[in-house]
Amino acid sequence: MKTTRSVLANVVQQLRRKSLCRRRKLSSSPRRIIDLRSDTVTLPSPEMIKYSLNAPLGDDVMGEDPTVQKLQQYVADMLGFEAGLFLPTGTMANLVALTSHCLYDRAAEVMIGAQSHISLWEGGNAAIVGGIHTRQLPEDRETAQISEGDIRDFFRDDSDDHCSKTVLLCLENTHNMLGGVALPVEYMAGMSSICRELGLKLHVDGARLANAAVAQGVSIASLCAGADSVSLCLSKGLGAPVGSVLVGDNEFIRLAKRARKRCGGGMRQAGVVASMGLYALENNVERLSVDHYFAKQLAAKLENYGFQISRAVETNIFYFSLPESVLQSKSEYCKRLEQGYGIKITGGYSTGGKLFRVVTHLGVSIDDVDYIADSMVKTLLNL
Ligand SMILES: Cc1ncc(COP(=O)(O)O)c(C=O)c1O
Repeated sequence: MKTTRSVLANVVQQLRRKSLCRRRKLSSSPRRIIDLRSDTVTLPSPEMIKYSLNAPLGDDVMGEDPTVQKLQQYVADMLGFEAGLFLPTGTMANLVALTSHCLYDRAAEVMIGAQSHISLWEGGNAAIVGGIHTRQLPEDRETAQISEGDIRDFFRDDSDDHCSKTVLLCLENTHNMLGGVALPVEYMAGMSSICRELGLKLHVDGARLANAAVAQGVSIASLCAGADSVSLCLSKGLGAPVGSVLVGDNEFIRLAKRARKRCGGGMRQAGVVASMGLYALENNVERLSVDHYFAKQLAAKLENYGFQISRAVETNIFYFSLPESVLQSKSEYCKRLEQGYGIKITGGYSTGGKLFRVVTHLGVSIDDVDYIADSMVKTLLNL
């Protein structure tokens, strides 16, 4: 183990203060798996599955699956839009949105946050599938906001032959890579006004927009009032196994349905899974506050033990770092935590190299907070 005496002494001292040194022995077989890698790992509950068994079905590519239609309208109404389109993933929902907004402008430019999911984790699909040129704008690391000044600076019309024309701005709410930050209503409204002024469309990657709304005590619709399209994931904190819904006005959704075909097509009796999305929306939105409380409690405990949390926790995601002096390799820490205590977290994201991510969700219990925090400290001590 690579360590400095001072770091270790500091952690041990804190452990003693908290009387943690009663220490459970490192168990060879952990009691159960606690998976904090992502909120996508949730499994459908028996009630959700039961609900889906009674869903009326049809061929959705022909527009005849009543459950899919119900879900699409449910999300459209909830977010304040005319229509919705059910898609298998958040990645595909974003791609369909971008290609639909840029349909008549090949080599159009789309402004995205440099740390956004579209920028980092969607395989460069906008360029490959849509012929879209993306431009990465810096987000403030604390607020996760792209500044108005940068939008004005980066914006380009088609008066200069050197430039591709900016047609769209994308915002991510909550912001995953910057620590589950919830962008406020005023900021979203301000961004929408700038877009109108510059003649840009606005797409919101709202994979976790419900988290943003619940965390701030506002309606989901208020967070996307001035947007042209929003993608909402059902398979993250909401707990459905599959699916995202993209919303916009009727004409946008008509184009999006055509784009969906080009991106791989629709699903036929998709009501089987759309029903679980409906169940999730009807039952699991308000309870997101439990996940947020859990994340805050856990982060506070870890901070007490000397872990550095990247920023104040707002929703269900946070990142933490460990002193480089005790950290031989991030993967070793994650491996030991899993082998010794059954706790899975991720390390190795590209946000500065040294960060670990924790995500809370309905698959884990608030009662596990102490066990998780203690296990993380003990794993560190045993590295
Ligand atoms: C902010 C954000 N947008 C989009 C996605 C993509 O969703 P999916 O995994 O369903 O493709 C994710 C996935 O984690 C995400 O965090």
